[in-house]
Amino acid sequence: LAANNHYKMKNVKIDLASGEYDVQVGEGLLEQVGSTLQALGFRQKAVIITNPWLRGLYGSRLKANLEEVGLETVLLEVPDGEEEKSLVRAGLLYDRLAEVQAERLSPILALGGGVIGDLGGFVAATYMRGLPLIQLPTTLLAMVDSSIGGKVAVNHGRLKNNIGAFYQPRRVMADVAVLRSLPVFEYENGLAECIKYGVIMDAGLFDLMERRLGEIKSGSVEVVEEVIFRCASIKAAVVEKDERDLGLRNILNFGHTAGHGLESVSDFKLSHGRAVALGMMTACKIAEKMGVFPHQGSARVQALISAAGLPVTLPSGITPEQVIAAMQHDKKKAENRLRFVLPRKIGEVFVQPEVDGILVREALEEQIG
Ligand SMILES: NC(=O)c1ccc[n+]([C@@H]2O[C@H](COP(=O)([O-])OP(=O)(O)OC[C@H]3O[C@@H](n4cnc5c(N)ncnc54)[C@H](O)[C@@H]3O)[C@@H](O)[C@H]2O)c1
Ligand SMILES: [Zn+2]
Repeated sequence: LAANNHYKMKNVKIDLASGEYDVQVGEGLLEQVGSTLQALGFRQKAVIITNPWLRGLYGSRLKANLEEVGLETVLLEVPDGEEEKSLVRAGLLYDRLAEVQAERLSPILALGGGVIGDLGGFVAATYMRGLPLIQLPTTLLAMVDSSIGGKVAVNHGRLKNNIGAFYQPRRVMADVAVLRSLPVFEYENGLAECIKYGVIMDAGLFDLMERRLGEIKSGSVEVVEEVIFRCASIKAAVVEKDERDLGLRNILNFGHTAGHGLESVSDFKLSHGRAVALGMMTACKIAEKMGVFPHQGSARVQALISAAGLPVTLPSGITPEQVIAAMQHDKKKAENRLRFVLPRKIGEVFVQPEVDGILVREALEEQIG
């Protein structure tokens, strides 16, 4: 981790009916977790949940940081991988929490990407009816998306995220320094969500990403921090208006209608970020065909996605028919209609509850590589 001497930090406040909390974004924040827990008044045994790889990179130092301020700390490991987001793994964690005698006010620290955040969050939400949760996101996706907003879940059967809760963390601390060890492939997946935020709500963020993509890709702290801060602010604002996902939160699904279909057709071999990148292009093309979004807008989105290292054409072997069939099975659609979030201009979207299947097919056909 970077030394703290040039420590800067940005802060987003989320104000919800269920309470308020801060999302901090900055370099070196992991060194501040111990003092932060102290300031928040935690005295009981702290529990870090992470995976073996992240334990080696950051977990052991984090544990030492908590112990330096006198907090007794245990670290629990979960093997890496989406398949660990399960009730079986949650059950094993409950056993471990009982063994180490976690108490009602023991903070659970989820140190990892969205998998650890969702699983650790689910366990925190349910063990003893809820232990305080601190999100320590380590992927770009987790920093801008999954750690914020209080959705925690595990997968069950063939369905993703179908057992879960709304459970807000007490604090989110996104230490941008940890992104240096994140594989480029994962970083690019996170960039897809950042582009999404620009298109749905922040033309200035989209401009910034266009102008400074080189620096963003090379990990320039100042601009990466700014991008994460702006994305986190948008997610916070949307969640504040619609904590329980009954309306506005829908716009966060821009790119996700076709994206989910693509993920499922590929048997999840296509990563979420890449599927969302393709799905954003499908939505742009549909909006263009409907005459509500200029071609030049689509072209800018396509150029940025492509420059970010993300695909703009369907993987070989995947057909528009397959994607449409998969979309019709997605839990997020109502009856037979295909609901899309469509752009009006960069920085503004709207929900179209019923999109003509012919337009969807045409849009996907244009994405055949
Ligand atoms: N709760 C929500 O609102 C929400 C929103 C979006 C996604 N999600 C969930 O998030 C999950 C995906 O999260 P993800 O993309 O972060 O994947 P992930 O958690 O699987 O992390 C990706 C990989 O990067 C590794 N890694 C993480 N941080 C690292 C670092 N700093 N250095 C080196 N390696 C690192 C991990 O070990 C893993 O192998 C999915 O399960 C998805 O359902 C939840
Ligand atoms: Zn997503």
